[in-house]
Amino acid sequence: MGASQPVQIYLPSPSQKGIMSLEEAITRRRSVRHFTPESISQSQLSQILWSAQGISNTSSGYRTVPSAGATYPLEIFVVCGTNCVEKIGDGIYHYNIDSHSLTLHYRGDVRLDLARVALNQEFIYEAPVDIIICALYERTTLHYGSRGERYVPIEVGHAGQNIYLQATALGLGTVAIGAFHDVEVREVLRLDKQYKPLYIMPLGKPA
Ligand SMILES: Cc1cc2nc3c(=O)[nH]c(=O)nc-3n(C[C@H](O)[C@H](O)[C@H](O)COP(=O)(O)O)c2cc1C
Repeated sequence: MGASQPVQIYLPSPSQKGIMSLEEAITRRRSVRHFTPESISQSQLSQILWSAQGISNTSSGYRTVPSAGATYPLEIFVVCGTNCVEKIGDGIYHYNIDSHSLTLHYRGDVRLDLARVALNQEFIYEAPVDIIICALYERTTLHYGSRGERYVPIEVGHAGQNIYLQATALGLGTVAIGAFHDVEVREVLRLDKQYKPLYIMPLGKPA
């Protein structure tokens, strides 16, 4: 592959049936802060990303989470450790919603750096994967003005809850992390200024 060609990984199609009922997932959902070093599969990662922001109706393009005026301000990045996801190398990846794929944004394991800028919450580097939900506020504020500033964090809550419930249903664990330094997280993730990180969600097998 040429140096200029981006690394793109097409994820397996998400499943729309599972073995745990919604009621059971709601009952069992708990914040998990201890993970085994076990890797996760591509299909597990696929399912988690789809639940957070994937397309659930291909004709309308509407997604698994509601969005004010369907302005969809959220962008999702995935931090993978070394040998942490089946056949996916370490690095920072961007989740492409339309193609349900990942694009490599930066090669390297940045979990330790990410934990450092999030008050050294060690489960960020213990988990094989960290999902970071960022927002591009302008997509919503251009439409709704200052009211949009309220809508965007509400939407992150929807996405975060879907990740929690999907993780539970897959036998995985996560925790929603809001305590971190925004600018430093952006630097670790090599993102432009307009991206505002709102949640870090470590993901892995509960220890
Ligand atoms: C907005 C928000 C921010 C949070 N930030 C953190 C955090 O930085 N670190 C952490 O360990 N847990 C964090 N949590 C998780 C809460 O501590 C957790 O949800 C709470 O203790 C209740 O436990 P449960 O999720 O198991 O029901 C956060 C939760 C929310 C909703």
